[in-house]
Amino acid sequence: MIVLKSDEQIDGIRTSCKLLAQMFEEIGPQIAEGMSTYDVDRLFHDWMKHRHLGMPCLGYMGYPAATCVSVNNVVIHGIPSKHEILKDGDIVSVDICLEKDGYISDSTHTYEIGKVSPEVHELNVVTEKCLYMGIDAASRPGARIQDIAKAVSTLAQKHGYGVVRDYCGHGVGLEMHEDPEIPNYVSLMNPNPRIRKGMVMAIEPMINMGTYKVDTDRKDGWTVRTLDGKPACHWEHTVAITDSGLEILTQL
Ligand code: MF3
Ligand code: CO
Repeated sequence: MIVLKSDEQIDGIRTSCKLLAQMFEEIGPQIAEGMSTYDVDRLFHDWMKHRHLGMPCLGYMGYPAATCVSVNNVVIHGIPSKHEILKDGDIVSVDICLEKDGYISDSTHTYEIGKVSPEVHELNVVTEKCLYMGIDAASRPGARIQDIAKAVSTLAQKHGYGVVRDYCGHGVGLEMHEDPEIPNYVSLMNPNPRIRKGMVMAIEPMINMGTYKVDTDRKDGWTVRTLDGKPACHWEHTVAITDSGLEILTQL
């Protein structure tokens, strides 16, 4: 069931989203070669803790950190580790949910460490572009959920990239994961609800340089990697549909 949000609720979600965007703007530039993925998590964790903000990822189904920090061939749900050190040429996506006064925001940025290869840089640029293509498709009058998938997958496939199928975007705002599911690939089997005022959505293309196929780590139960070991990229914004149209909330 899709829960439509009132203007008051969207105000609350917007506040949460602006804090998340501000945090990315402040902490993002500090992410550098030589830091561990645990160090990265700590920067965000401490920023939220000092402001008494909720961290919905922490403890979610036993997830052990406030953020997901996914390096290179890790698509999503990378668990921060003191043993994983960022090196020149890596890409690292940081996926964070934040809670303020019961309202939840969700956003992901992918950072390039030092000088990445032109191929990896292009993957990052195109994946962020996929996010904006998806957002643009969602903003058109009469748009439906699968229009997002069409826009994202069309651009990704033009570059020969794999579009992850096993994980999707989602409704968000009052809970971390709400209906509808927002896939990045088109399937006739999937529901295709109309996008309407009051919807708040996390749109999040997960794009692989090679195969779309992914695999979850059997030991930790979280880490999702590309099956072929090639790099993956992830960008995400929380958006709302209001009277004045689509608004990207996790953007300053
Ligand atoms: N932020 C993720 C999303 O976009 C959810 C992470 S779940 C966690 O849906 F438990 F791994 F943090
Ligand atoms: Co999300």
